[in-house]
Amino acid sequence: MTGRVAGKTALVTGAASGIGRAAAQLFAAEGARVIIADINADAAAAVAAETGGEFVALDVSSEAAWSAAVNHVGERYQGLDILVNNAGISPHDTIEDFDLEQWRHIHSVVVESVALGCKHGLSLLRHSPAGAIVNLSSVAGMIGTTNYASYGAAKAGVRNLTKSVAMYCAQRKYPVRANSVHPGSIDTPILDADKARYGGRAVTMREKSIPLGRLGQAVEVANAVLFLASDEASFITGTELVVDGGFTAR
Ligand SMILES: NC(=O)c1ccc[n+]([C@@H]2O[C@H](COP(=O)([O-])OP(=O)(O)OC[C@H]3O[C@@H](n4cnc5c(N)ncnc54)[C@H](O)[C@@H]3O)[C@@H](O)[C@H]2O)c1
Repeated sequence: MTGRVAGKTALVTGAASGIGRAAAQLFAAEGARVIIADINADAAAAVAAETGGEFVALDVSSEAAWSAAVNHVGERYQGLDILVNNAGISPHDTIEDFDLEQWRHIHSVVVESVALGCKHGLSLLRHSPAGAIVNLSSVAGMIGTTNYASYGAAKAGVRNLTKSVAMYCAQRKYPVRANSVHPGSIDTPILDADKARYGGRAVTMREKSIPLGRLGQAVEVANAVLFLASDEASFITGTELVVDGGFTAR
């Protein structure tokens, strides 16, 4: 079998769309069995058909759902090598106008989900010969923003949690690496609400702030995810890989 992740089993959350879909496609092309985990059943089933993978219904904010999904993966695939915690939402709010229920919802989907995924996923990953966790954070988890108060706080949580998972696995001598990926502005359906609200300005305003002068594409983030998930990154754990066209370099 050939391919950069040949013979591995990979579960990608939020794989029905955007970056998760692109990652699932790359993993499949590079020889992995892919599990397409999402709440959007129709779109996820289509990605499963494209990739030859399996759709598993998973609300990442539910511990019961994680437990069921991981049990299923253990029974059907006898193990798990790669977990990509990618599912997410990114509503706007500010420190003066945020709603506490909404804050809690964002934290539940964006960061509690990652903790639950790592907790349950490790029961299988620690038995892999070379396990890898890749968590999708954001540049908004590294620098301050005006309009992503809740989201930025939750993504900063993902950044730090990933390092804790990496340290824990190393200390326990689990053969599992954990790293975070930090996209800047990437042209996926997550930007649709902004495009509906601001029209073309949603893109041009972003492009002006990016040194490379354009939005990123989902596959450009998926390439970083694939690298960190593969054995090419065998000495890389607890680190963060920024994919932002230079946005945070200034
Ligand atoms: N696109 C960007 O500009 C950008 C920038 C920084 C970080 N990110 C992060 O990258 C990740 C992927 O984003 P994207 O741009 O591909 O977005 P997207 O909207 O295209 O895809 C997100 C996917 O997550 C799924 N999802 C949402 N809530 C879920 C839940 N509770 N359980 C399971 N699945 C759920 C959606 O159904 C969808 O398929 C997210 O974590 C996002 O925060 C994206």
